[in-house]
Amino acid sequence: MLVAAVSCVAACYPRPVDPVGVPRAPAAFVREPYLQMVSDSAASVLWMSPPGSTDSAWYRVPEVDSSWTPATLRSHGKGTRRTDLGPLPAATTVEYRVSADGDRLGPYAFRTAPPTGAASDVRVLLFGDSGWGGPEQIELARLMRREEWDLSIHVGDIAYDHGSESELTERHFRVYAPLFASTPFYPAVGNHDVRADGGRPYDAAFLWPAPFPGVRYYEFRWGRIQFVSVDTSSGTDDVSQLRQGRGRQMDWLEEVLKGAAADASVDWIIVFQHHPLYSHAIGISGHELDADLRERLLPLYERYGVDLVAAGHDHHYERTWPIRAGHRVEDGCGPVHVLTGGGGASRYARDITETPLVATAQRVYEYVELDVTADRIRGRTLDRDGQVVDEFTVRRYAGTEAGLPGKCAE
Ligand SMILES: [Fe+2]
Repeated sequence: MLVAAVSCVAACYPRPVDPVGVPRAPAAFVREPYLQMVSDSAASVLWMSPPGSTDSAWYRVPEVDSSWTPATLRSHGKGTRRTDLGPLPAATTVEYRVSADGDRLGPYAFRTAPPTGAASDVRVLLFGDSGWGGPEQIELARLMRREEWDLSIHVGDIAYDHGSESELTERHFRVYAPLFASTPFYPAVGNHDVRADGGRPYDAAFLWPAPFPGVRYYEFRWGRIQFVSVDTSSGTDDVSQLRQGRGRQMDWLEEVLKGAAADASVDWIIVFQHHPLYSHAIGISGHELDADLRERLLPLYERYGVDLVAAGHDHHYERTWPIRAGHRVEDGCGPVHVLTGGGGASRYARDITETPLVATAQRVYEYVELDVTADRIRGRTLDRDGQVVDEFTVRRYAGTEAGLPGKCAE
């Protein structure tokens, strides 16, 4: 059923706020410690402290040695301190502590990734469009902290309205501390994340394994999962050309997906990006406005067997059935698209078109849990009250490149 379209102007898009009732970092810290680029052999810890602060960090691998090793620090952008830990053993608990001007935080504990290609059950936190500062984001953050995650992926729009340094501090790092002190965080860049100074505050806050200097797209492996973060937001040639189906990011993306599809040690391919390929929201950003991306990326994802495409941008939740060539197909015969834009940003007036491709679409604040095992991904979507609003299963999809056996054949 097509519901009458609505238009949204500034009046129905309220201003983000700073989080009320969420403790600030101790005075010696502007941002509490957070993990970045955790792999099967290394990890980085970042935090922000005031200018002139005297900082230190220590770490240990309790299974190997109970004594604390001083870590080497360096700068990562204005005020951000960084330490790179490694070499670390795979699938092992690591602990660390940080001090700034005598204020100590920690110890925090996290687990390194399983060895690349090793079988492992993986629990992923998936969310997006979060950094608003309002009570909805705060309630969801509180629920996220109750759980243990192997890693988290974020589909972009981390801090509204512009992704400035202070917005990132107040509406992201403050809200989620200390969750991301013990959970690796992998972002896809959103359009709001590059508004301030071309995205420099974003670049100074996060690390990712960029394949070329200065780009915000990347890929990484976690056990038998291939993750791919696609940049649909930066104002660069790589992004504008992606929308035309060419250029450096497009070539890189095809190379990564082709390699993963042919790699017997990859069970799952999960792509995450800010702009959705399927959105059934009417009236603002989704719907037909990203038709160019859909036209360019869907054939690639369907050819090389992407199992799950996660996106945000529109501030609601929806999940499609498996789709191939524009049609609903059986489980395991096409990618499933999950739009998780309900992480806390204003749920502006919005109606949703119901089509046969949509399994569920809801105007709800939410985040998604993904439990990945050898033969399926089990998803559960929770709202701000902790109620399960969607449950689903994704089966492995081989892609048309591999030839489609049995039930998937045309
Ligand atoms: Fe967005």
